[in-house]
Amino acid sequence: MQETTRSDSSDHAATGGLLSGALGTKPSNRVHIPAALSGELAGRPAGEPEVADPVFSCRQVTVTYRDKQALIDVTVDIARSQVLACIGPSGCGKSTFLRCLNRMNDTIPGAHVSGTILLDGQDIYDKRQDVARLRARIGMVFQKPNPFPKSIYDNVAYGPRIHQLTRTRAELDELVCNSLQRAGLWSEVKDRLQSLGTGLSGGQQQRLCIARALAVQPEVILMDEPCSALDPIATAHIEDLIEELRRTYAIVIVTHSMQQAARVSQRTAYFHMGRLVEVGETDQVFTNPRHRLTEDYITGRFG
Ligand SMILES: Nc1ncnc2c1ncn2[C@@H]1O[C@H](COP(=O)(O)OP(=O)(O)OP(=O)(O)O)[C@@H](O)[C@H]1O
Ligand SMILES: [Mg+2]
Repeated sequence: MQETTRSDSSDHAATGGLLSGALGTKPSNRVHIPAALSGELAGRPAGEPEVADPVFSCRQVTVTYRDKQALIDVTVDIARSQVLACIGPSGCGKSTFLRCLNRMNDTIPGAHVSGTILLDGQDIYDKRQDVARLRARIGMVFQKPNPFPKSIYDNVAYGPRIHQLTRTRAELDELVCNSLQRAGLWSEVKDRLQSLGTGLSGGQQQRLCIARALAVQPEVILMDEPCSALDPIATAHIEDLIEELRRTYAIVIVTHSMQQAARVSQRTAYFHMGRLVEVGETDQVFTNPRHRLTEDYITGRFG
């Protein structure tokens, strides 16, 4: 297994200690051999897949879509009050992994998930699991903001009404207000709560979707490329919000922007062809990756 991880001393020295390229990184001279891929990636990812007291604990998670393996043997923990960034080339399984965590893959015909995923120590794929309740504990924000064609108020009130989280209108009003405040949108919409959510700007719509997710009082927030449809100002707003939210929630974000991963996350997971290649502290992954494939990707040699 010597081949699977970077030799820290020699390669690190060869790259001048701090790599420079897409993130100020440049490739080392290590050669990428795709034929060796399946063998070299078997087993645990490089880095630190485990953390103390994880919110999610995933062990050997494999997902197939009919006969196609989209995720293979993924073992990783997700820490509390931290952001985990999932990066990797298109089609490597990032969204598939995210969807495992709230059983969204259940809704895809032909999808099959094996392995174990524990949320606070409980198997989320246990037959007795209440899937609707589970999804309320795990908020999800998608690439394209998808507010319902309802008022701003009703968008945020939707989840609490379904899950009967409040008893009186005053309680619901407070929850809606509070969720919009935490999503950083309240001051912009407080005078037009009855206007259509779909009438907001893209960045506002994404914050509305975050408010909608927060309103059901989740424990974890999953974000699948939440800024890819947004301009840099709206993106900066969401990134600030992520930093604020992580004090309360565990967040898993999929992003194609390595700069964004470096800015917002404390841990980074690099996926490649359905496998989790490496996971660890974000600084470590970007400045001194342990695996050659991670280095190839972050230096722009692959993907
Ligand atoms: N509903 C589906 N049915 C069949 N195959 C699927 C389905 N969804 C994804 N796949 C396949 O599973 C693999 C992983 O896809 P996934 O969407 O998880 O990748 P991704 O890393 O999120 O890619 P991107 O960066 O382009 O969003 C791909 O080969 C994809 O074609
Ligand atoms: Mg995706």
